[in-house]
Amino acid sequence: MIQKQNIDAVFMGLGYIGLPTAAFAASKGLTVLGVDVNPTVVETINRGEIHIVEPHLGELVKKVIESGQLKAAVKPQIANAYFIVVPTPFKQNHRADISYVESATRMVIPYLKAGDLFVIESTSPVMTTEKMAALIWKERPELKDKIYIAYCPERVLPGNVIYELEHNDRVIGGINPESTQKAIEFYARFVKGTLHPTNARTAEMCKLTENSSRDVQIAFANELSMICDKAGINVWELIALANKHPRVNILQPGSGVGGHCIAVDPWFIVSDYPEQAQIIKRSRETNDYKADWCANRVIETARQFETANGREPVVACMGLAFKPDIDDLRESPAKYITSRILSESNAEVLVVEPNISEHKTYNLTEYREAYQKADIVAWLVGHKPFYDIQKDNSKIELDFCGIRK
Ligand SMILES: NC(=O)c1ccc[n+]([C@@H]2O[C@H](COP(=O)([O-])OP(=O)(O)OC[C@H]3O[C@@H](n4cnc5c(N)ncnc54)[C@H](O)[C@@H]3O)[C@@H](O)[C@H]2O)c1
Repeated sequence: MIQKQNIDAVFMGLGYIGLPTAAFAASKGLTVLGVDVNPTVVETINRGEIHIVEPHLGELVKKVIESGQLKAAVKPQIANAYFIVVPTPFKQNHRADISYVESATRMVIPYLKAGDLFVIESTSPVMTTEKMAALIWKERPELKDKIYIAYCPERVLPGNVIYELEHNDRVIGGINPESTQKAIEFYARFVKGTLHPTNARTAEMCKLTENSSRDVQIAFANELSMICDKAGINVWELIALANKHPRVNILQPGSGVGGHCIAVDPWFIVSDYPEQAQIIKRSRETNDYKADWCANRVIETARQFETANGREPVVACMGLAFKPDIDDLRESPAKYITSRILSESNAEVLVVEPNISEHKTYNLTEYREAYQKADIVAWLVGHKPFYDIQKDNSKIELDFCGIRK
């Protein structure tokens, strides 16, 4: 059992971000308590095991649990710093759901004392940190201006989290300059990247801006792909040529945009600033529309095949993940396109995802077998093995991700 007065930091939320951060801070000599409301998560971690997939995390957690630097619990304890790393999904109306941030904040409020640091890492709408500061002061008025409150977004890449936690630059914004300074001092204990000071609103907006910037740039490429299709131009060749310009760098089009960050975070700006966020909103809509456009193309091609051949085609949907070479299907446009083809066409549909072995809804087919059996091949995700499939000219190929560029 960690001695109460010795805890350097409490991390609220032990998921894809909270657990690696807690374990990494512990490995740098901090005494850390990781808190999660899910008791199974807590028990797993206290056994020195992990419940998520992330390279090198298993060894790290085992090491810091065995050394006693990290302990997990379902409730916080008295510490010197508290970090909120809980989910921030969006609701039906695309508004951010900050109820997890609020409930984690409420859980730590009874433990706060003068001089403590309170940091939100969860991706959050602008002004969330100030709202949580107001909540803390309402419940504990004696702590007004006596604790340090800041926002520090996370920008690690799943699959490379442990390295990036140490080496990425961080943006740190306090509700006042003293809070920024205090938070910077804390992160300097385990982050080697540069720590950039700012204020809380700018730091919150910075995270949303990073993901919106990607979304807008991908929307431009996706819009080009639909224009080029109409104009009879190979979009991949066009973009490669345009990028020969020394100051042009267009991204690649695809079957849409997915994942739990880029397809979600721009809505946090749009829902709060609907009048101003015109391009961000249109880009989100363009990227969502691209998935429908792809689905429509496949469904229409299958219908034409049936009319011409007097039989229903076999359609291979190549890929389900939200981007190449991962097994993550969250908010995936490929999964959405596949589900539309399954429900709206008469074709026999072969579902392919080489990065997962089974799926609870779909019967998966091996990718080479699916290609060989298909009349129509819809390339939905640019997974590496797909590039090795020799083109068979007897098949109709719909290339939405540049496999045949
Ligand atoms: N995963 C990523 O790649 C990534 C990257 C950058 C930012 N983020 C942001 O980081 C935040 C956390 O994301 P994640 O992927 O780690 O989420 P996650 O779903 O993997 O984990 C969140 C954990 O928080 C726990 N939890 C929920 N309410 C709690 C509470 N009140 N107290 C304690 N624990 C609680 C859940 O049980 C869960 O284990 C989100 O805001 C996300 O947008 C994620």
